[in-house]
Amino acid sequence: MERTFIMIKPDGVQRGLIGEIISRFEKKGLQLLAGKFLQLDEEAAKKHYEEHEGKSFYDPLLEFVTSGPVFAMVWAGDNVIALTRAIIGKTDAVTAAPGTIRSDYAVHTNFNLVHGSDSVENAEREIPIYFSEHQIVSYEHTIQRWI
Ligand code: TYD
Ligand code: MG
Repeated sequence: MERTFIMIKPDGVQRGLIGEIISRFEKKGLQLLAGKFLQLDEEAAKKHYEEHEGKSFYDPLLEFVTSGPVFAMVWAGDNVIALTRAIIGKTDAVTAAPGTIRSDYAVHTNFNLVHGSDSVENAEREIPIYFSEHQIVSYEHTIQRWI
C-alpha cells in the first residue's frame, strides 16, 4: 500500500481547518496511519524542504513552517500520493482548481495550508523526519472492500 506524508501547516492549524482537511481525506476513503501535533525546529524544516534551498521563497518558508504548531500525518491507500495532491490542489491558490483545499481556503501561495508529498521517494524521505515506524499503525481498513 502506498503511503504519503501530509502536514497541516501553521496557518491551517490557526484557522481551525484540521478537521476539515482530515475529513476530506477520510471521506475519499484514504486510511490514516499516524498523526501528531508538533512544533518544527529549523533543522527539521530544512530537512523537509531541502529541495528548495536557495530559492527566493526558501527563507520565508522556513520561518513560516516553524512559526507555530503543525499537524503531521501519514496516510495510506492506492495512489494516495496523487489522490491527496489532487484534493490539496495546485501550489498557487489562484490556479488551484475549485473544490480543492487550496482553492477553497487559501489566498496566497506562501500560506497554502497543507503539505503533501509529491512522489514515493519524497514520501519515504519525509515520513522518517516526523515519525518512527513504531508510531505508524497498521490495521485492516474495512472500507477498502468498497473503494
Ligand atoms: P512546492 O514543493 O513547489 O509546492 P507544493 O507544496 O505544492 O508541493 O513548494 C513548497 C512550498 O513552498 C509551497 O507549498 C509554498 C512555498 N512556495 C512559495 O511560498 N512560493 C513559491 O513560489 C513556491 C513555488 C512555493
Ligand atoms: Mg512540494
